[in-house]
Amino acid sequence: MSDSALVVGGTRFIGRHVVDDLLENGYEVTIFNRGNHENPFAENDRVSRVEGDRTNREDLERARDEAEPNIVVDCVAYKPKEVEEAVDVFADVDGYVYISSGSAYGNEEIPKREGVTELCDCTAEQAEDDSAESYGPRKAEGDRVIFEAAENGVNATSVRPCIVYGPHDYTERLDYWLERVDTYDRVIVPGDGTNIWHRAYVEDVASALRIVAESGEPGEAYNVGDQRLVTLEEMLEVIADAADTEIEVVHAGERELAAADLEPTDFILYRPYPHVLDTNKLASLGWESTPVDEAMRRTMKEHRESDRDGAEHDPGRDAEERVLGVLDTI
Ligand SMILES: NC(=O)c1ccc[n+]([C@@H]2O[C@H](COP(=O)([O-])OP(=O)(O)OC[C@H]3O[C@@H](n4cnc5c(N)ncnc54)[C@H](OP(=O)(O)O)[C@@H]3O)[C@@H](O)[C@H]2O)c1
Repeated sequence: MSDSALVVGGTRFIGRHVVDDLLENGYEVTIFNRGNHENPFAENDRVSRVEGDRTNREDLERARDEAEPNIVVDCVAYKPKEVEEAVDVFADVDGYVYISSGSAYGNEEIPKREGVTELCDCTAEQAEDDSAESYGPRKAEGDRVIFEAAENGVNATSVRPCIVYGPHDYTERLDYWLERVDTYDRVIVPGDGTNIWHRAYVEDVASALRIVAESGEPGEAYNVGDQRLVTLEEMLEVIADAADTEIEVVHAGERELAAADLEPTDFILYRPYPHVLDTNKLASLGWESTPVDEAMRRTMKEHRESDRDGAEHDPGRDAEERVLGVLDTI
């Protein structure tokens, strides 16, 4: 009989790729969600679905009892109390893995390392709120719940992804850049283009979650991110290759951007200080990442088939044209 996996979530982005990866690796899969998003696996007879809300303990127990999982991948734990509930409900599985985040790190170090770089503190108030500001602290507290559960004998682990990109990315962060490269000959990057914000290709996040659930050490956290990092400018070049096009990358510093009331941070995926995760611990379990050019080809292909354009992150082409005008007169 095949092993059984339960995916809490599973229908949008990371979870959807987790299901694909589990199926490719011989698992029978159960997804557990509220049914607010279309189920891409509705026609697949190796994927069952349990409807429910993970914030309701009885629903979570029902999912466990119906799936009888060997491993559980938890894509939807945003508050420490949700992780607490999960490590209790799934106390007897062979592997429970919680998706934490690179945002759990509370110190700017290069690279950020598991067990070495400090995690964010989390106040009781932060643990309960829903704001973007408390996201890192809440994820860090979830990690501490995992560490404690493992001390009590639960096979619980954590995976910390940096910014995830790839097909079906509903955050549309990379879509903004894919669209820019696909539409214009001249593309502005803020600063000198050497900015680094570590990214993780979604299929590699999915395989990381399975590998950690199968063979991670209970009580340990594992970073995940592309093994070869590219700067913002290199990313645009990789995108241009994937789009089979050529672009001119135009650097715009703070002063030039100010001419159009823009700041570097108005550009999505720009981060003033580098964010880099050490991925060697994960690699020691046999994980490796997809080459960046291949990951980008798959990402661009699906982007073009989708209706996502990243418009919500767009600083405005008119403003950009003004910056280009200023640069042309220098
Ligand atoms: N994207 C990134 O760059 C990034 C980086 C680091 C970490 N992460 C972490 O990755 C996880 C998100 O992954 P994803 O959204 O791509 O996963 P996903 O599993 O593909 O999509 C989210 C799923 O959760 C379900 N869901 C939402 N609320 C639920 C609830 N209360 N009860 C049951 N099901 C619920 C949704 O369906 P319904 O709405 O139908 O219930 C959907 O199936 C989060 O933990 C996030 O912190 C993401």
